[in-house]
Amino acid sequence: MGIISNDVRSGTKPDRNLALELVRVTESAALAASRWVGRGDKLAADGAAVDAMRLLLDTVPMDGVVVIGEGEKDEAPMLYNGEKIGDGSPPVVDIAVDPLEGTTLTARGFGGALAVIALSERGTMFDPGPCVYMEKMASSSEFSDLLSFDEPIGDLIRKIGERKGGGPEDVTLTVLDRARHDGVVAEIREAGATIRFITDGDVQAALLAVSEDTGIDLLWGIGGTPEGVLAAAAIKCLGGEIIGRLWPRDDGERQAAIDAGYDLDKTLTSTDLISGDDVFFAATGVTDGDLLDGVRRSKGFATTESLIMRSRSGTVRKIGARHDRAKLREVTGGLYG
Ligand code: FBP
Repeated sequence: MGIISNDVRSGTKPDRNLALELVRVTESAALAASRWVGRGDKLAADGAAVDAMRLLLDTVPMDGVVVIGEGEKDEAPMLYNGEKIGDGSPPVVDIAVDPLEGTTLTARGFGGALAVIALSERGTMFDPGPCVYMEKMASSSEFSDLLSFDEPIGDLIRKIGERKGGGPEDVTLTVLDRARHDGVVAEIREAGATIRFITDGDVQAALLAVSEDTGIDLLWGIGGTPEGVLAAAAIKCLGGEIIGRLWPRDDGERQAAIDAGYDLDKTLTSTDLISGDDVFFAATGVTDGDLLDGVRRSKGFATTESLIMRSRSGTVRKIGARHDRAKLREVTGGLYG
C-alpha cells in the first residue's frame, strides 16, 4: 500500500507532507545533541539525540517500523531495529533514523554533524542486516550514468573530467579519511583528481556530491550501510544517484551476510536501497557544516536550520526555526532547551 491515496496519485488532491512533521523530530534531536558539542562524550551526545528524537516521534500519527535504527533490540533501548513507532494510524511506513550522524564530530566540536530521519512506504527500505559497511559512490545527475564499481576509479575520473570539458585535474572527490581507503586514494591521486577528505559524516558528503555548485563531483568510500540508505532516501528527493556494494569487515560478517541471503557482488542503486516512490527526508544541523548551520543559542532562544524534502513532489525546503528555550524545557520535562 502506498502512503498516499489513489485520488492523490491521479493528481486531484494534495495530501499530507510528512516531512513537515518530521522536521520537529530532527530539530529536537539536534537541539538535545548540541548541548554536548565539544564535550568529548560521543555516547552522551548520541543518547541525548535518541531520547529527544523518540519523544517527538510519538507526535507523528503513523504506523511505522524502524528499519534503520540504533541497532538490535538488546543493544539499543530505543529506536532499535524493528521497533514500532506511532499510534498505528495510516500511513504505514518504514523508518530510518540517525539521531546523530557524526557522533565524533559533535564530541569534538567539528562541523557537519546532523540529526537525520527518512520515511518511505512499508517494505521499501533496504535492511542492512549484518552488513555494517558499504562501498558507496554518489554524484549529481550530470555524471550518474557513469557510476560503476566495475572499472578502475581512474577511468571514471577521466570520463567525468572529459564531460566537464577538461581533464582529471578538474574532478574533485570527497573521501572519508580511513586507512582502508589508502589503495583507492593512491589510484585517485595517480589519476590526477583532487580530494577533499572528511573525518566523518558521509550522509552530508553524499548530499553535497549530488547537489549543484558545491565543487564536489563524486563521493567515494566505504562507510556505514545505514548511512547509505539514508543518503539514498535524500537522493530520491534531490536527484542524482548513489550506488553501493556491501563490504563485509571479515569472514564472519561475510558468511553471516551470505547466510542471510545478501548478494555481496551486487551493485545496489538508490532504488534498491529505497524502492518506494514516496520518500520523506528531514535533517537538522547540529554543528555548522557546508549543508546546514548548526544549533545556535542566544539569550532565551536557540535557532536551528533544517532541510526537508519529499520525493513525490520533489519539493526541497530549508527551514529556519527559533525555539524558546524555557518553553522547550517545560514541554520536554527538561530533556533539552
Ligand atoms: P557515527 O555518527 O555513528 O559516528 O557515524 C559517522 C560516520 O562517519 C558515518 O558518516 C560513516 O558512514 C561512518 O561513520 C563510517 O564508519 P567508521 O567511522 O567506522 O569508518
